[in-house]
Amino acid sequence: MVTKKIIMGSDHAGLSLKLKVIEHLNERGIEVVDVGTYTADSCSYPDYAIALCKKIQAGEAELGILVCGTGIGMSIAANKHNGIRAACCSDTFSARMTRMHNNANVLCFGERVVGAGLACDLADIFIDTEYLGGRHEARVQMLADIEAAN
Ligand code: RB5
Repeated sequence: MVTKKIIMGSDHAGLSLKLKVIEHLNERGIEVVDVGTYTADSCSYPDYAIALCKKIQAGEAELGILVCGTGIGMSIAANKHNGIRAACCSDTFSARMTRMHNNANVLCFGERVVGAGLACDLADIFIDTEYLGGRHEARVQMLADIEAAN
């Protein structure tokens, strides 16, 4: 993928890992917009999921990455937004497949679950893998239909 800019966000529990992934992506020449949190003070993960999803919805970037303790709260919050398909992944196969088959646009992972090396691999694979379209398109459209109907 030719994505040169992505959005990232975390709560306090994901801050340290987020900063390591941002450094890694910057070294790759990828610009990262960090929507916060910026300090280790306790905060609420939905606030940062909302901030990131608004930017994806506005077209500021195609892809985003959210980090919390587990990645789960962030993925639940992100998936409540129209047009957001968030996947919580802690293995590289899932990070690749969720781009190829689900056209996921937000990757979530947990600082209490994955180490920095794996997190950087997850981010790289998610950013570098293209959606396949084709037979997956009708199914991804069904996800949008669920949003519209509920
Ligand atoms: C914060 O303690 C923790 O609950 C949060 O980071 C996340 O793991 C929630 O899903």
